[in-house]
Amino acid sequence: MDSQHCKMNGDSFQESSYIEDSPSKNGVISLIFSLKEEVGALAKVLRTFEEKGINLTHIESRPSRLNKDEYEFFINLEGKNVPALDKIIKSLRSDIGATVHELSRTKEKDTVPWFPRSIQELDRFANQILSYGAELDADHPGFKDPVYRARRKEFADIAYSYRHGQPIPRVTYTEEEKKTWGTVFRELKSLYPTHACYEHNHVFPLLEKYCGYREDNIPQLEDISNFLQSCTGFRLRPVAGLLSSRDFLAGLAFRVFHSTQYIRHSSKPMYTPEPDICHELLGHVPLFADPSFAQFSQEIGLASLGAPDDFIEKLATVYWFTVEYGLCKEGDSLKAYGAGLLSSFGELQYCLSSKPEIRPLVLEKTSVQKYCVTEFQPLYYVAESFQDAKEKLRKFAQTIPRPFSVRYNPYTQRIEVLDNAKQLKNLADTINSEIGILCNALQKIK
Ligand SMILES: [Fe+2]
Repeated sequence: MDSQHCKMNGDSFQESSYIEDSPSKNGVISLIFSLKEEVGALAKVLRTFEEKGINLTHIESRPSRLNKDEYEFFINLEGKNVPALDKIIKSLRSDIGATVHELSRTKEKDTVPWFPRSIQELDRFANQILSYGAELDADHPGFKDPVYRARRKEFADIAYSYRHGQPIPRVTYTEEEKKTWGTVFRELKSLYPTHACYEHNHVFPLLEKYCGYREDNIPQLEDISNFLQSCTGFRLRPVAGLLSSRDFLAGLAFRVFHSTQYIRHSSKPMYTPEPDICHELLGHVPLFADPSFAQFSQEIGLASLGAPDDFIEKLATVYWFTVEYGLCKEGDSLKAYGAGLLSSFGELQYCLSSKPEIRPLVLEKTSVQKYCVTEFQPLYYVAESFQDAKEKLRKFAQTIPRPFSVRYNPYTQRIEVLDNAKQLKNLADTINSEIGILCNALQKIK
């Protein structure tokens, strides 16, 4: 297969996580400036742009609502000669006396990475996995077990073929797989009343009642996905292998959680070097049924859409210290809500002992904290509440340099992209209009 192009559902597409905007959109700068209404004023300004070799691609004019003897101009120009443009803006302000507002400056290096706009577009990730789920490292407990490896391939193939809207295929788990699940289920369940957060303990009995959570039964992803959709609109989607952080987080923006369906190797039921169905179903699923936690998780996803690479890393780190390894306050005590803790018999006890360091969740610091993936965490962050964590995440998202903001429409299951420059222009128009009305009213009073 060509490494750059492949076919999906019959459509040819560019196989890349970083699909650039069309060239015509690159480097576009928008300005608004106002000039006194006099013959040749605009021509003088346009000549300045022409002399500096800056091409205007769009121009609009209208009478100023602020000053009756002025006109406002909204222009788009190609931002290839940025130093010259800075001189022009200076000259417009000082020599011509124009009022200039720079609305946007999209430099070429700031091209926005591609991101899905509709839930169906998550299908594209099925072909963008970093490694196939059947490929095991030499130190994996199932590496030398051909039966286990063949089984892992079966699961990977299910996920690879899966498309949005289809029911998640049901799996008949073997007696050996059910025994492994049973061991993990029994041990962890004994710790939940004292170690898991309120939300986990509240939802867990519902999963036992409605989704087949039992020691002798591995629940089906399809049943759980339907249950979550009825609670919070979250759904599960099988994943064939490792996704990039960008793709995985983008799923959360649509309230979609990419879940494994296979189980760890039976030789070590209390250990797994990677996420498996025990981790997903016992650790993650109960929390996704809680409205506040679901909202918080979606906020991480929304913040990731079109974010620069360094912010994707920061958001993935926030995800690590919250959704995977988060602690929260409950009265005077601490409880676990992170899935990495709730699915680990050893770390669930360790995280609430006096051994690890505990710090309050401060996203500016948490997002750049280094961590280790192979040992118990030496440091955990504590959230005041999911509501508080969500507010912090929203504020943090505002620091991400994006020329747009995003909003999820749960009815269309699409991301609505709001252009910041346009929003600013609309806001300016509204303010101008209000001031105009006020001025007219004042004149009538006089
Ligand atoms: Fe996880």
